[in-house]
Amino acid sequence: MSKLFQNYKRSSIEFVKAEGHNLFDNQGKKYLDFSSGIGVTNLGFNQAVLNQVQEQLQQIWHTPNLYQNSLQEEVAQKLIGDRDYLAFFCNSGAESNEAAIKLARKYTGKTDIISFQNSFHGRTYGAMSATGQTKIQAGFEHLLPGFSYAVYNDLASVKELISDKTAAVMLELVQGEGGVVPADVQFVKALSQLCQEKDILLIVDEVQTGIGRTGSLFAFEQYDIEPDIFTLAKGLANGLPIGAMIGKRKLSSAFGYGSHGTTFGGNKLVLSAASCVLDQMAAEGFLSSVQANALYLKEASEQKLGGLTNVSAIRGLGFLLGIQTSKNLDETVQAARDRGLIILTAGQDVIRLLPPITVSPSEIDQALAVLQDVFA
Ligand SMILES: Cc1ncc(COP(=O)(O)O)c(C=O)c1O
Repeated sequence: MSKLFQNYKRSSIEFVKAEGHNLFDNQGKKYLDFSSGIGVTNLGFNQAVLNQVQEQLQQIWHTPNLYQNSLQEEVAQKLIGDRDYLAFFCNSGAESNEAAIKLARKYTGKTDIISFQNSFHGRTYGAMSATGQTKIQAGFEHLLPGFSYAVYNDLASVKELISDKTAAVMLELVQGEGGVVPADVQFVKALSQLCQEKDILLIVDEVQTGIGRTGSLFAFEQYDIEPDIFTLAKGLANGLPIGAMIGKRKLSSAFGYGSHGTTFGGNKLVLSAASCVLDQMAAEGFLSSVQANALYLKEASEQKLGGLTNVSAIRGLGFLLGIQTSKNLDETVQAARDRGLIILTAGQDVIRLLPPITVSPSEIDQALAVLQDVFA
């Protein structure tokens, strides 16, 4: 009998080896990975990351945040470039959102955060309170006070919730867990402007959309906005546990000595992986090739699956693609797995594809052949 809490619905197979974009289970069966963990191994099982981490392991893998950490400075520089932001490193997406919520409250001296129905920001109390899904929150009351949930892509509903206590609005640019729903560009631009007019901070949760996933390093670049705070995790260290909260320099007065911290966050091993990930993404032509291949995945999916009676919509941004379907999701995931393809679900009725962003057109063809068979 398992000695683990049964808080995950686990498949009976176990992956024991990985190579590039493929996984191998303990029976030696090979799978094409169109999940990247859950949007984590964005570069697949990458030799350069492996080499870098092995090299760092030989030097030193942990130092406390009481000493200089040039790798944190290096990764912050690669993330921020010429923009006027500062970074804080932690261990996960939820932690990066906790940091964002704490910073927003302390800087503004206000308590309230507006997020969105159907959003997902993580499982800790702050992040869960920001998550607009009762099924995630049920049984864990009391949640943090001060959170309310606007309708996604509806500016009027945000306006209705704004008060003189509003510190920040927090949003995903594609609701990933909530069903792969992209935000409208006009909505996001108007929201950003509204926040500026009302002196409300805009927090963008890029935990799933960031690090090349949507075709740009950060999704907000495609929306032509500059959030006051944005958060990262998942793909940043390609599978090693990391989170980052990036905030405008003007907010730094609220995060002085002793205001916030972490034991493990930003350790050298994880940061060495992040540095290598960001170098690969900055290489000339890398992101344009991601964009081209993601477009190919979308167009080929529309062509091959779009006309099926059990598929009602195909939507997403870059390599975060959702196929809305009337088919049973668990059975669909299982049928794909039986045919050697690993996929995910999102929301109530969406199959979610999160392949490594380095996936090739021929691997996309291979995945779509399986999906055609499964959906037929
Ligand atoms: C948008 C978003 N925010 C936050 C999180 C939470 O990240 P973590 O599981 O690393 O705490 C997730 C995880 O799926 C996410 O998709």
